[in-house]
Amino acid sequence: MGKIAYEQASFKDFEHMPGLNMYETAQEFWNYVDDWESRGHWNYRQECVSGCKPVVDVIAKGKLYKDCVALVFNDYWGLTQHPKVKAAAIAAIEQYGVGAAASPAIGGHMTYHRLLEERIAKFFYRDSAMLYTTGYTANSATMQALLKMDAFAIVDMGVHASMHEGLLTTNKKTFPHNDMEALERILQQTQGKYINRMVIIDGVYSQQADIAPLDQIVKLCKQYGAYLAMDDAHGIGVIGETGRGVLELYNLYQEVDIITGVFSKTFGHLGGYVIASPELIRYLQFQSRQHIFSVTATPASACILKSIDLIDEEPFWKDRLWENINYLKKGLDTMGFDTGNTQSAIIPVMTGSPNLNAEICRLLLEAGVYANQIGYPAVPRKNARIRMSVMATHTREDMDNVLSAWEWIESKMKIAKKYGYQTQID
Ligand SMILES: Cc1ncc(COP(=O)(O)O)c(C=O)c1O
Repeated sequence: MGKIAYEQASFKDFEHMPGLNMYETAQEFWNYVDDWESRGHWNYRQECVSGCKPVVDVIAKGKLYKDCVALVFNDYWGLTQHPKVKAAAIAAIEQYGVGAAASPAIGGHMTYHRLLEERIAKFFYRDSAMLYTTGYTANSATMQALLKMDAFAIVDMGVHASMHEGLLTTNKKTFPHNDMEALERILQQTQGKYINRMVIIDGVYSQQADIAPLDQIVKLCKQYGAYLAMDDAHGIGVIGETGRGVLELYNLYQEVDIITGVFSKTFGHLGGYVIASPELIRYLQFQSRQHIFSVTATPASACILKSIDLIDEEPFWKDRLWENINYLKKGLDTMGFDTGNTQSAIIPVMTGSPNLNAEICRLLLEAGVYANQIGYPAVPRKNARIRMSVMATHTREDMDNVLSAWEWIESKMKIAKKYGYQTQID
C-alpha cells in the first residue's frame, strides 16, 4: 500500500489480507498506524491517567493533556465514582476476596451472583436472569446458543457488533436502521420457512443514538410469529420515567423474549445480563459455552446491587443528565452543527469524513476536550462523526468549555451544516 492508500484506509482493510501471512498483515497495519500518527491523527488507546471521570488527564501522542472534559465514557450517571457504589465494591472484596476462580457450573456461582440475577430480573419486572462476564458475551453467546443453522435472524443494521458475532453460524438478513417496511418485508418473505426466527434490535442505538420503535416491532413480531431480542445497553438510566430504558418508555416489559444489557454503562461497573423465560435461562446456563466454560464476575461486581438501588433512590441524576444533554445539544445546534437524530445521552457531530474526524479530535484535545472519532466500519464512511457521551456529573462549566472548543474549531474549519460536509482533508 502506498501513502495515499493508508490515508484512505480503515481497520477493516486489514481484517483479512489475502496472500499475506500474519506477520506481513501486522506489518501493513503497523505502517498504517505510523502513517496516521505522523499526521497527529491516531486518536485511539490514549492513556487516561485519572480513571473514568467527567474531567480527566490523558496522555496522547506522548504528551500529557490535563483537565480535559471527557466525553468518551458511557458512565451516564457517574456511578463509577459514587461513594456508595465504591463502598459496596470494597465491602464485597473484604467479604469474598478478589476473584471467583471457577466457572458457574463448577463452583464459581457465588451468593452475590444469585442476588444480582434476582435483582436485575426484578428491575425489569421479570422472573429470570443470568449474568455474563461482559456485555459483549451476553449478546454473542446468547445468540450463538439459541440460533442454530436452521434459524433465521432479522437484524437492524445498527445493532452492536457483539450481536453480529453471535450470528456467524446462523442465517441472517439485516434491514436498514429502524425501517419498519423493510422489516415487515423480510418477515413476510421468510414466513413458514424457519422454526426459529428472531428479530434483533437495540433499544437505544450506540452510533445513531436514537430509539427503536419498540411498539411497532412487537406488533410485527406477533403478527408474523417471530421472536424478539433487544439490547438496551444505552437506554438504562437515560430513557423512561424511572430509567428502565426503552421497555419502560413503551411499557412492554413482558413482550420481549430476550432482553440483554450491560453493567458497564449507567450501572458503572462491568458485565452483561440476559433476561428471558425461566426455561430459556436454564437452557442458556448449561448450553451457552461462553457461560459454562468461563469464570464468573469478580466480587467487586456486587457493587452493581448498589447501582441498581440508586436508579430508584437517586433519580435526580437522570434529571441532571438530561439538563446536560439538552444544553449541549442546543448549543451545538445553534452553532449549526448536524447532531443527527439523537434521542439519548450520545451526541454525535456529523463530519462525513474519517480524516476530518481525526483532525477535529486532535484539535478538540488541544482545546481541552476529549471525544471519540467514529468512522468505518462502525458507521459507513460518509456517516463519520465525532461521538460525545454526556454524564450527569459534568458541570455547566464543562459543557460551556465543550461549546467553546467547538466554536473555535468551527472558526478554523467551517464544518457546520450550512457548509455541507467538508472533505478537503480527504
Ligand atoms: C449496544 C451495546 N451492546 C453491548 C456492548 C458491549 O458491552 P460491554 O462493553 O459491557 O462488553 C456495547 C459496548 O459498547 C454496546 O454499545
